[in-house]
Amino acid sequence: MTKRPLAAIENDFKGKDVVSISQFDRASLETVFAATGRMKAELAGKRFGAYLRETTTALMFFEPSSRTFMSFSSAVKRLGGVTLENQNAGTTSSAVKGETLEDTAKVFSNYADLLVVRHPEVGSVERIARAASIPVVNAGDGAGEHPTQAIMDLFTIRERFGSLDGIKGVMTGDLLYGRTVHSILHALCNFNDVTIYLLAPERLKLPSEMVRSLQSRNLRLIEIASEKDIPADAKFWYWTRVQKERFDDPEEYNALRNRFIVTPQLMNEKAGHDTILMHPLPRVGEIDERVDVDTRAIYLTDQIAHGVYARMALLSLILGKL
Ligand code: NCD
Repeated sequence: MTKRPLAAIENDFKGKDVVSISQFDRASLETVFAATGRMKAELAGKRFGAYLRETTTALMFFEPSSRTFMSFSSAVKRLGGVTLENQNAGTTSSAVKGETLEDTAKVFSNYADLLVVRHPEVGSVERIARAASIPVVNAGDGAGEHPTQAIMDLFTIRERFGSLDGIKGVMTGDLLYGRTVHSILHALCNFNDVTIYLLAPERLKLPSEMVRSLQSRNLRLIEIASEKDIPADAKFWYWTRVQKERFDDPEEYNALRNRFIVTPQLMNEKAGHDTILMHPLPRVGEIDERVDVDTRAIYLTDQIAHGVYARMALLSLILGKL
């Protein structure tokens, strides 16, 4: 079967790439959320369906990762599949010898049924997807996108509140380089009456062309300058770290990091009784550890657990096993 690179999902996942969350319409997101819920229910009962038996997934990570890499690996293996793993591809693959991404993609297409890639350059995973003959899943391309993180995070919010329609949330930190934020905002354009408050240092604001494009697709975005302006009725706070690796100048990074910190006091003053506090991790000081015991803090509990279920669901759908 020849692949149509970067085709819209249109609720038919089989054999498709997932490079950008913009490939998803609402029905496709609902399908992957339902499949994620199914994986969660099955694993809660300790019944591991062997959906990925006789499939091989190659994980090629050119950028550091612990959670995303391990959760993909766990997802494949717990569903009976096999992984080929290259965690430091930037230093251990033939890229070191100067091989192009396109050649790497063509070679790996012979070794596996699906390729999961993380790479520091925006657009690199798209290049790999165009060259590969097997489906390619983006596990983060520089400051670009991180669609599987968006799926697990939006599943988490939807499960908690029943729907993403009418949801109100706050996104804070590095909105310029934060790829998880970009993917979540693109995905939210598929839902009705969504309002997101954006809180970032001036230098790390969401790019204005992205703001315009999201607003033209029906997302209500409200930029705020201080924690004081966080609305009382926000259902989720999505905190992020300043992406140190995107800065050339360490001084500049140091001046911007930890401008916004969640403390127990901020939770008490500004979060609602049912607000959930999320973070894609790793956190590096922007959430005070004393907040961890707050039952509204779910970054180390529900949110992280959903990463494995979401990846199980997505890979099973792409490989035609669900
Ligand atoms: C995020 C990423 O890699 O973009 N982490 C992750 O995948 N869980 C967020 C981050 O690194 O800050």
